[in-house]
Amino acid sequence: MKVSGTLRVPGDKSISHRALIFAALSDGESRITDILQSADVHSTAGVLRALGAEIPELSADFVIRGCGRRLAQPTRDLDCGNSGTTTRLMAGVVAASPIEATFIGDASLSRRPMGRVARPLQAMGARFDLPLHGGLPMTIHGGTLREIVWTSEVASAQVKSAILLAGLVSGVRARIIEANKTRDHTERMLEARGADVDVDDESVTIEARSTIHALDTAVPGDPSSAAFFAGLAALADGGELRLERVCVNPTRIGFIEQLRRMGATILEEERRLDGGEWVADLVIAPGALRGGSVAERDVPSMVDELPLLACLATRAVGETVITGASELRVKESDRIAATVGNLRAIGATADELPDGMRIQGSAGPLRGRIVTHGDHRLAMGFGILGAASGNSIEIDDPDCVSVSYPGFWRDLAHVRGT
Ligand code: S3P
Repeated sequence: MKVSGTLRVPGDKSISHRALIFAALSDGESRITDILQSADVHSTAGVLRALGAEIPELSADFVIRGCGRRLAQPTRDLDCGNSGTTTRLMAGVVAASPIEATFIGDASLSRRPMGRVARPLQAMGARFDLPLHGGLPMTIHGGTLREIVWTSEVASAQVKSAILLAGLVSGVRARIIEANKTRDHTERMLEARGADVDVDDESVTIEARSTIHALDTAVPGDPSSAAFFAGLAALADGGELRLERVCVNPTRIGFIEQLRRMGATILEEERRLDGGEWVADLVIAPGALRGGSVAERDVPSMVDELPLLACLATRAVGETVITGASELRVKESDRIAATVGNLRAIGATADELPDGMRIQGSAGPLRGRIVTHGDHRLAMGFGILGAASGNSIEIDDPDCVSVSYPGFWRDLAHVRGT
């Protein structure tokens, strides 16, 4: 398999959710360009609409007129679909508003842990009704909250963001102490919109009575989507791939750095600051991969890329060990069990660890059918592995990529010249 050409991956999912939320919460008009138009982002738009915000149909270039932190009591449940980011970020907004609302979602989202977001928001004064299993449906009785200093129980940008949003909407100080720094888009975007935010090595604080103004957002390319094509180019037998205008925020590029450590050649060109985020073009050429290791401190910067990394590790020389990643068990699927189970199903050697996985590289062909459990990142990770020479992998539910990357299969065919 050879790769060639240039690709512009869709807009960053994390920034797209936040661009909608901040535009809705500010006074004035915000223009958003290049937003990701995927199922998860549609879920955030739908929840904001149910709360009275005027969100037009998503397109490549549109304007939101904000409602200035005055959201309305919804008349229907807030359907978050498959999206943990929608649920947890909007939980912070609803908890701080005089609103009673019930969050619902699909079967996968309904199983995911919401206690992690409920606990700090309860400590701020909101009331929650959670089912015994701790997932959805989740009802929040919001209102004026009190200030908080919260030490993160798990490395989660979604929980950090929920607390910061609750502080913003309630006008109270909120400080989050993180042992392991997670993606920092919320604090960057708050600061860019005029909120009083302090960031140091161990914590993020939004000060009392912070306000935000409207601001245009040009959403950069999603590094977690670019990762699939960086992986494809690394596995190719020849050619070169250029990925344009990818967000290279330091809290998001752990996978690119890991792939380099494992032997891939990845150049960053035309690095520039674009709307408060660093972006660059990535140029990737095939290279012989060797095994590597990922430990807990590395995990937040590549958390969504680990199933893909495990797929690539089957084509590396030697062993790859991922530890400190028990968060993978509570993503859209149990990504440790699902990744290892599928790797074995296609003939690779892999083992589950309680908090990660161990994968042996080999040169033998990998063939068979994998089960995605509706998890978009599994579909795409195994899609990339299936494109490597000698492999043939059937995917049970290829359409589930619509959660984050609706055009994935088309783009894959494009860069392979098929
Ligand atoms: C996200 C944070 C991460 C990530 C998710 C998006 C965000 O989740 O896995 O895809 O936009 O804040 P956690 O906060 O649960 O780690």
